[in-house]
Amino acid sequence: AVASLFEKFQGIFDIGAAVTPRTIHSQGVLLKKHYNSVTAENQMKFAEIHPEPHRYTFEAADSIVDFAVREGKKVRGHTLVWHNQTPDWVFQGDNGAPAAREQLLARMERHIEIVVKRYRGQVYAWDVVNEAIEDTAEVMLRKSKWLDIIGEDYIAKAFEYAHRVDPNAVLFYNDYNETNPVKREKIYSLVKSLLDQGVPIHGIGMQGHWNIHGPTLAEIREAIERYASLGVQLQITELDLSMFEHEDRRTDLIEPSAELQAQRYEQMFDLFKEFRGIITAVTFWGAADDHTWLDDFPVKGRKNWPFLFDNLHVPKKSFHNIMK
Ligand code: XIL
Repeated sequence: AVASLFEKFQGIFDIGAAVTPRTIHSQGVLLKKHYNSVTAENQMKFAEIHPEPHRYTFEAADSIVDFAVREGKKVRGHTLVWHNQTPDWVFQGDNGAPAAREQLLARMERHIEIVVKRYRGQVYAWDVVNEAIEDTAEVMLRKSKWLDIIGEDYIAKAFEYAHRVDPNAVLFYNDYNETNPVKREKIYSLVKSLLDQGVPIHGIGMQGHWNIHGPTLAEIREAIERYASLGVQLQITELDLSMFEHEDRRTDLIEPSAELQAQRYEQMFDLFKEFRGIITAVTFWGAADDHTWLDDFPVKGRKNWPFLFDNLHVPKKSFHNIMK
C-alpha cells in the first residue's frame, strides 16, 4: 500500500491541495488520503463569491468547506483582495464614474466582513492580499484599481478588516516571483513596513509556481531566509513544478522530464524541512496531473504535468522521492 503524504509530514508542515467542487469528486480518494488541507482554487475569489453588489454565491465555496469539515481537513482561504477575478462593479461609482475612496473602502470592508465571518472557525488562514507588488524595479506596487482609487493603504486596511472579523485567523500576504531578488526585496519591505505600522499580518505566502529548471535551490533558500528574518510564518501556497519554462511554446512534449522533476521536488522538500516551525504548510495548486491550470497557462493548449500524481492518480517518481 502507498503511504500517505500528509501523514509523512505530520508535525512538520501541513500538505494542502487547491480543489474545486469537480476535483473533490474526481480526485476525492487522493485528496482524502494524501492532503490534510485544502484551498478553493477559484470559489472564494471576489468574482465567484460576490458577483453583484447584493448577491453572494456561497454554494461552491460552502461545498468545499463542508468536504473539509467532514473529512477533518484544514482550509486556507484564497483570496480577499486581488486585482484579478474581481468584478467591475466593485470599482464603479454612481453615474459611470469610478468609485470614490470611501465607497471602495466600505465595499472592501463589507466584503471581508461577510466572507470572513461566514467561514470563521473553519478557514484558519486567509490570503488577505494577493499579488499587490509590481514585478519590476521601477515601482513598488502593481497598478490596480484598488491602488488607484484607495491609495497604498488599501493593503493595511484589508488586513485590519480581516483581523477585526476573525482575530484568530492567520493572515497572509501572498505573491509569485517571490524568489526573484528584486521582487523578493520588495515583498520583504512591504511586509516589514506593515509590521512596523502594527498591521495584523502573520505570514508570507510564497506561491511556488516554479518549473523543472528554476528557480535555483539557492534562490529559494535565500527567499525563505529573508522572509523568515521578519519573524512571520511562511507557507508555500500554490506549488507546482512545470515541465516547461514559462514562455516555452512547445505543445507536443511527449516525454516530460519526470526524472528532473523528481530531483527538484526532493531537493525542495529537503529544504522546506530545514525550516521546521517557520514553514507551516506546503500547498500544491492541484493534486494530480489530470487537473492543472498550467494546461492552458500561459500557452493555450499546452499540456503540463506539474504534480506528484499522474493523470490516473498513480504516484510518480516525484512522489516517491519526497517520501524517501
Ligand atoms: C488560477 C486558477 O488556478 C485558474 O483556474 C483561474 O482561471 C485563474 O487563477 N495565482 C493565484 C491563483 O493566486 O489564484 C491563480 O489561480 C494562479 C496564480
